[in-house]
Amino acid sequence: MHLAVMPEESLALLNVRPEGVYLDATVGLGGHTGLIARRLTTGLVIANDRDPESLEMARRNTEPWADRIRFHHGTFQTLPDAVREAGLQKIDGVLADLGVSRYQLTTPDRGFSFAADGPLDMRMDPTTGMTAADLVNFTDEKTLADIIFNLGGERRARRVARAIVRVRPIRSTARLADVVLRAVPRTGHLHPATKTFMALRMAVNDELGELDRLLETAPALLQSRGRLVVIAFSSGEDRRVKNRFRELAGQGLGSILTKHPLQPTEEEVSHNPASRSAKLRGFEWN
Ligand SMILES: C[S@@+](CC[C@H](N)C(=O)[O-])C[C@H]1O[C@@H](n2cnc3c(N)ncnc32)[C@H](O)[C@@H]1O
Repeated sequence: MHLAVMPEESLALLNVRPEGVYLDATVGLGGHTGLIARRLTTGLVIANDRDPESLEMARRNTEPWADRIRFHHGTFQTLPDAVREAGLQKIDGVLADLGVSRYQLTTPDRGFSFAADGPLDMRMDPTTGMTAADLVNFTDEKTLADIIFNLGGERRARRVARAIVRVRPIRSTARLADVVLRAVPRTGHLHPATKTFMALRMAVNDELGELDRLLETAPALLQSRGRLVVIAFSSGEDRRVKNRFRELAGQGLGSILTKHPLQPTEEEVSHNPASRSAKLRGFEWN
């Protein structure tokens, strides 16, 4: 079972009530959805994900509360459809736990991992869109360098892009990791390909664009006193969430529930290291 990040804190911010209706925009393996569902009596969780495989696993993991959960396959852009298909217009809360799950990250077939060889894919939804291989093999060197620099924060992005272009086509994660490793020697404890892989993943899935769409569409789904709760894992994402909440508050549309982002306790990080960089923010609609 996937360990939900900041479970107590995120459910408290969502203010889960037994008769409430909540949308988990990123059900993953069902960690948060299961926790919400077990607190409900007449309420409902709409559980959304763009990854069909994760949805299937979430369904199995949350079996005991199946009567209170409706699953939906879609991106942040289609969240209004998920709510409409559940026969609703407004709901009490939206939760988004951004990025990829440990399951996606560590399953070689999904192509996110440089630790194990697999096809260079990285799509959260393998049924649609371009793969990381398409991106790496058909993007010009300058654009590739910009992606690796802007989305991965890799200062040696130009060197990495040059090395990729020189040897492509590249079709597997191990080959890409090896090319990056040869281009930029190891300095700290991070594998030199870490930032490049993160940048490509974010580009393939348009993660920043999707976050903007979430921050645009989710508030309109909330009824009075409804809450939007977001867990971000990179400073770029967290900044976007903070700025959007400030903008909404500035327009008098609601209030910010977290002056500073909440972060996991040392105890949580010790048993779930993947939670290390989580930043949790909440907003209440007027
Ligand atoms: C960190 S995991 C969520 C883990 C989940 N909260 C749990 O406790 O099991 C993020 C999930 O969000 C999904 N996801 C990320 N961006 C998405 C988007 N724009 N639209 C829909 N699903 C998305 C991913 O496919 C992944 O399954």
